[in-house]
Amino acid sequence: MPKTYNIAVIPGDGTGPEVVAEGIKVLNAVSARAGFKLDFHHFDFGGERYLRTGETLPETAIEELKKYDSIYLGAIGHPDVKPGILEKGILLTLRFKLDQYINLRPVRLYPGIDCPIKDKGPEHIDFVVVRENTEGLYAGAGGVLKKGTPDEVAVQESINTRKGVERCIRFAFEYCRKRKKDNKLTLCGKTNVLTYAFDLWERAFYEVAKEYPDIKPDYAHVDAITMWFVKNPEWFDVIVTDNMFGDIITDLGAMIQGGMGIAAGGNINPEGVSMFEPIGGSAPKYKGKNMINPLAAICAAGIMLEHLGEEDSGRAVEQAVMKVTEKHLKSLAAGQMGLTTTEVGDLVAKYVAEI
Ligand code: IPM
Ligand code: MN
Repeated sequence: MPKTYNIAVIPGDGTGPEVVAEGIKVLNAVSARAGFKLDFHHFDFGGERYLRTGETLPETAIEELKKYDSIYLGAIGHPDVKPGILEKGILLTLRFKLDQYINLRPVRLYPGIDCPIKDKGPEHIDFVVVRENTEGLYAGAGGVLKKGTPDEVAVQESINTRKGVERCIRFAFEYCRKRKKDNKLTLCGKTNVLTYAFDLWERAFYEVAKEYPDIKPDYAHVDAITMWFVKNPEWFDVIVTDNMFGDIITDLGAMIQGGMGIAAGGNINPEGVSMFEPIGGSAPKYKGKNMINPLAAICAAGIMLEHLGEEDSGRAVEQAVMKVTEKHLKSLAAGQMGLTTTEVGDLVAKYVAEI
């Protein structure tokens, strides 16, 4: 009996279903070659369902999803739904309730892709951001008083628990060791101003660092990091940071690796069910046009394979993507690729079968 992985698929909104279909095409090509099986089960969570039923996630969703080996997500976000409802009701709820405490975001410039930074190439841009994914400003702590009056008060607090911070930092050290690139882990914080939260982060970081004498611990303020991503991206190997800073710096990371068309990530619970997604959103204006770039979703599928323990297959997907960016794509932007969505998926699937 070949090994079988049960994958929950949430295609979601906008171009989500189109890019997920290409990811599944590639996953099927790679699994056929490697001799394992993937069983896909689709869930209709997203904006359309919410507009139809008034429900973001059914009550049983979390328990149901816990039965799968992994979750593969397209995009959440619908033009007819007020911002915040689907993001909080679906995406963040899944991250929190499944305790996916790591958001892993590789930033790598693939060959053939135009880098917006002058004189930087694939040899300069290859790092990974480990973003804490369940705490910080995202925890929802705070409140509002006297809303809508001139005396309105809004408080939004950043929650940082020693346990939450330490498990994230520990994951980052382990990941850095496994990655075997420069053996350097940078903590991205703001210890000069956020002297409560990042004091906790800094102490936890240097304490855990003692257990990893082979990894060089490094620190940079978040504002300086944004400067260095542009000026000296080659300085970075693995970066660990809190939820909000991680959200911001990984969008900058996506830009220096060529754009949202290629940026992928994993919401990881190392002890539970993880979820993999392109980070670009639902791009409603391209929905159904066969124009959107599926490579981010395909890369997310590759990261999922790596996480499932199918490392060779994960690498094969990345290599196949690199062949496509090097030889075939005019641009990563929707409608400017010189190929359709399905043609890009076909090419990656073809190369993956040849690797
Ligand atoms: C991301 C997104 C989400 C986040 C939004 C959609 C809630 O921007 O995955 O980075 O802020 O985490
Ligand atoms: Mn974001």
